[in-house]
Amino acid sequence: MKIPDPLIERLRRSQRVAVLTGAGVSAESGVPTFRDAQTGLWARYDPAELASPEAFRANPTLVWQWYAYRRSLVEAAAPNPGHLALADLERRIADFTLITQNVDDLHRRAGSRNVVELHGNLFRYRCFDDDTPVELVTVPQDAPPRCARCGGLVRPDVVWFGEWLPPQAWRTAVAAAERCDLFLCIGTSGVVRPAADLPLIARSAGAYTVEINIAPGALDGQLDLHLYAPAGQLLPAMMSAAFGDAA
Ligand code: OAD
Repeated sequence: MKIPDPLIERLRRSQRVAVLTGAGVSAESGVPTFRDAQTGLWARYDPAELASPEAFRANPTLVWQWYAYRRSLVEAAAPNPGHLALADLERRIADFTLITQNVDDLHRRAGSRNVVELHGNLFRYRCFDDDTPVELVTVPQDAPPRCARCGGLVRPDVVWFGEWLPPQAWRTAVAAAERCDLFLCIGTSGVVRPAADLPLIARSAGAYTVEINIAPGALDGQLDLHLYAPAGQLLPAMMSAAFGDAA
């Protein structure tokens, strides 16, 4: 796979790199997207009606069980060569921030360390009533446990429809976009705001911005370089081209 020279040079030279990833990065791990996960017992539910505070209030057990099911799908998956290439890139760049919209924890399992989770994480929990983080030693499958502090129901620590992004994560993501010299936008449709603004923020602050996706979408023509190929193939090829076979 031919990697354009300007990208190779920037990878070698950049001191500050920010990356935004979306569901496309996990596609080659076999992680089903929101909608694709609706099979079997869950086929009759609209995910938009399960992933909201209203849904949890109305039927906490149903929503909890849906998240237990989604966790089981992710636990059966493994990081792919795209995740591993990004963990490798982090080890080579002094100031590296990986911003992800994915809740599957695969970047961390691949070895990425400086990960900003804009939409939370399926494997973390907090109290629905007072928002306190909750550690669960064993995670019940059938119904949400209660918060030890206030007795409220425990929910997954993910962003639901109608909720704001975690403010600290968003601030960290914007700061990384503003100060980076290279911004990679990988496997995201670029339609869900405000995450989709990050590559444009980076570009207006002077970064070289690159999209990696299997097909042109909302970001087409808006960044400096667009590469259309599967991330699990392109990212390892990009690392080899920039850093040699040791990559
Ligand atoms: P989408 O499902 O909207 O888009 C996935 C993107 O990945 C598409 O642009 C595909 O073309 C691309 N893609 C698929 N396979 C790929 C591959 N092998 N290599 C590279 N690209 C590939 O997912 P996101 O953009 O992540 O929000 O969606 C953003 C948010 O919308 C999600 O985090 C979720 C959803 O509503 C919340 O849960 C809050």
